[in-house]
Amino acid sequence: MTPLRAILRGTGMSVPSREVDNHRLSRVMDTNDQWIRERSGIHTRFYADPGVSTADLGAAAARQALAAAELEADAVDYVVCATMTPDHYFPGSGTLIQARLGIPPCPALDIRQQCAGFAYGLQLVDSLIRSGVAKTVLLVGADIHSVLLPWSEATWRTLYEDGEPELSQEDYDWNTKYRHLTVLFGDGAGAMVFQGSHEDDGRGILGSELRGDGNHKDILFVPGIGSAYRPFVDSEMIKRGDSVPVMDGRSVFKLAVTHMPKVTRSILDSHGYSLEDLDLLVMHQANLRINEAAQKSLGLPDSKVHNNIQTYGNTTAATLPICFFEAQQAGKAEPGSLVAFTALGAGLHYGSVLMRI
Ligand code: ACO
Repeated sequence: MTPLRAILRGTGMSVPSREVDNHRLSRVMDTNDQWIRERSGIHTRFYADPGVSTADLGAAAARQALAAAELEADAVDYVVCATMTPDHYFPGSGTLIQARLGIPPCPALDIRQQCAGFAYGLQLVDSLIRSGVAKTVLLVGADIHSVLLPWSEATWRTLYEDGEPELSQEDYDWNTKYRHLTVLFGDGAGAMVFQGSHEDDGRGILGSELRGDGNHKDILFVPGIGSAYRPFVDSEMIKRGDSVPVMDGRSVFKLAVTHMPKVTRSILDSHGYSLEDLDLLVMHQANLRINEAAQKSLGLPDSKVHNNIQTYGNTTAATLPICFFEAQQAGKAEPGSLVAFTALGAGLHYGSVLMRI
């Protein structure tokens, strides 16, 4: 009998309704549309309204994925949620999504590999299904970055209202201090449903090559709020901006353009495929320039790559499923296609996963 494989049955996505373009951001900080487009490729991003959480967006994406799979919620026997912005410090958002969907009690994990979270989730799904631990797994990647933006109430008001902006110089300068970071991110969620199958049609998650390397922790991390401090959070931390991620963008850029192509070549090679065999490469959406450089280094034509950072910005754990969802809608991932997913993010975590759709 053919060994069990994790077959993709359905995909879904969800983004909040507030669309914010680059011009609007320039109301609250010293930035402009040209800089953001040229350096990152981003035109717009979406922000959730207060009170909309990661589990809300994740559950909406999951409902769509289940509908696409023609499965009821009670078919799911394992939930994996990749997020760096859970609803609460604890518990994780996995069980919150399970409860919102009405999935009967089952194992539910949160995993924390930031931008590489969904790629790690795919490896986990593959292992759970191959080992027989789970039959139907819901994998969600969801992040609400707008809650991490270190902006005052006045900033949010000024961002959304029309007319001449009236923001204090203090707020404007504070927002400008973090402009290299804040313009890049948006909110979103994506989900996939997988089922085990013995069918001998070559479909399923074929394998993964993942790496973690804590030696690069300092290039992308949140310095405050955590067990490295007693108390784990205080008002001084917030005032100093220690709740805002520190990002050495150039180092992240260099590592991404080096490692994403390298692991993608390697995973193809270890499964006996070449780049010519690949139908679609879905890359994490951190910066369009990173993806253009990675595409060039792999020599892939535009027809084999899909990018949508222009519309959504970087949605961290949600970029891979949202990008795949839209690539599929665009006809770039027909049944039988060989698809590679690759990502790199804080940790450092990176890797590539190979799947036959
Ligand atoms: N608007 C206008 N000017 C800006 C902005 C902005 N939003 N941000 C920075 N600048 C200015 C800087 O102040 C600097 O000005 P100076 O020359 O007068 O000092 C100038 O632009 C150049 O700044 P750099 O930071 O050197 O710009 P760079 O070309 O490196 O681009 C960027 C920055 C876009 C952040 C890029 O490095 C990048 O995208 N890196 C990767 C980001 C990434 O992958 N993040 C990780 C994913 S997140 C995760 O894993 C959770």
